[in-house]
Amino acid sequence: MHNPVVWTPYASKAKHMKRYEKLAAEIAEAIRSGVLAKGEKLPSVRHTGAARALSASTVFQAYYLLEAQGLIVARERSGYYVNAGSSQLQPHGVQESVRKEASTVDVSELVFEILEATRAREGVALGSAFPSPLLFPLDKLAACMSSSVKAMDPWLTVKDLSPGDLELRRQIAQRYLSDGLVVAAEDIVITNGALEALNLCLSAVTRPGDTVLIEAPAFYACLQAVEQHGLKAVEITGHPQQGVDLEAMRQAILQHRPKACWLMTSFQNPTGSLMPQKHKRALVDLLTEHQIPLIEDDVYGELYFGTHKPLPAKAYDHAGLVMHCSSFSKCLAPGYRVGWVAAGRYARQVERLKLTSSLATSVPAQQALARYLTKGGYDRHLRQLRHQLLLQQIRFMEGIASYFPAETRISKPDGGYFLWLKLPGKVDALELYRHALANQISIAPGPMFSAHHEFRDYIRLNYGHGWNAETARALQWLGAFVRDAQKKNSNE
Ligand SMILES: Cc1ncc(COP(=O)(O)O)c(C=O)c1O
Repeated sequence: MHNPVVWTPYASKAKHMKRYEKLAAEIAEAIRSGVLAKGEKLPSVRHTGAARALSASTVFQAYYLLEAQGLIVARERSGYYVNAGSSQLQPHGVQESVRKEASTVDVSELVFEILEATRAREGVALGSAFPSPLLFPLDKLAACMSSSVKAMDPWLTVKDLSPGDLELRRQIAQRYLSDGLVVAAEDIVITNGALEALNLCLSAVTRPGDTVLIEAPAFYACLQAVEQHGLKAVEITGHPQQGVDLEAMRQAILQHRPKACWLMTSFQNPTGSLMPQKHKRALVDLLTEHQIPLIEDDVYGELYFGTHKPLPAKAYDHAGLVMHCSSFSKCLAPGYRVGWVAAGRYARQVERLKLTSSLATSVPAQQALARYLTKGGYDRHLRQLRHQLLLQQIRFMEGIASYFPAETRISKPDGGYFLWLKLPGKVDALELYRHALANQISIAPGPMFSAHHEFRDYIRLNYGHGWNAETARALQWLGAFVRDAQKKNSNE
């Protein structure tokens, strides 16, 4: 088992940081190196501002950030102190890290019920899997859609069948290149969102009855795909900061001889875990040793809060075994349903499966995105989006700290837009979900991320819809419910 990890998202590259981020990084380093000891008081906001010629609000922002990272705590009317304990989420205590038996999966009914409920516009959508659509450059996308459709060669509707529009695949390949990954445009297959990519990959490398390795908790669509493909799943428990345990993976491979592995290595849904780069490399080495394809779901890879993009496991793949799946759904163009897979040695198989299942991805949508990527502005948009999501994460963490019982454990993801909470006192997440829904608040209860309805005292909250009075009230309501249920359970 891993030790709990101290969360240090803001590494040394101060050049691109905002002033408050730089200050936060310096204080974090002072805490890490022991210059500021546990329980020690930080200099006051006024003092720090004066000493560094920074405004009080900049210093406050830095302190909020450190607080959100769990490095410092505020004490009323006293100031800020270095956190003496950690409220970070410890490894999930779900029995052993590997289930002894590969088993079939049965989650669909619960997931469909919850998805239906989280679709409603009214209410507070903390259970939704999407961030607010208003975070995206909708006008610019609309302009790209309009001009590309007007100029579109009608024959493209025939030409741009699977593997998809060449210009879009070239643009995606260029983005890989700028991250240091060499991916040929012909190995990229454009799909209807990442979900189709993931399912096509699963079809390409498994047959009904096969066993696949997945993580626990897992994105519910992974569980549904396993169920629909008639596969058996071996669940490997994920660490809330570092993702799956590689020793557990090795054991599972030896015991179950899986035909594929489906994982999220960056900003896992629901935990937000980020596998350290050296683990990603070791994961690829392990899978290569056993010739097991990796279906890597990387839809949140662009939504990192640190100074550098965490590279996917695909970056360490020299054997063509990693099928890297992503999309524009979460970071640029929700609803366009444009995703892709860089499928390595399976590219031709995936291309043919796509031809036989859905033929093509919407040609106008591909054209619009190709044009948007060519015109530039995507990276600027991503920088703004990451910054906005980080601020929203900080607000939510503050809200949870104020309204939930102190024993609530919370993940502190370094990207994405989900928080994963472990509720204290055996509070039942499904009961909370049902009561919350009756009060127009949606949450994603832990059991929907488990093949066996585990994680009963966990919930996932989406902070991608921003902060307002309604959100604050919703968190307050949830916190009060948890507190009451905790009290009730302790009296029983
Ligand atoms: C982890 C994860 N993977 C894949 C998807 C599907 O992505 P897309 O909307 O591009 O199909 C989602 C959407 O919620 C997701 O959360």
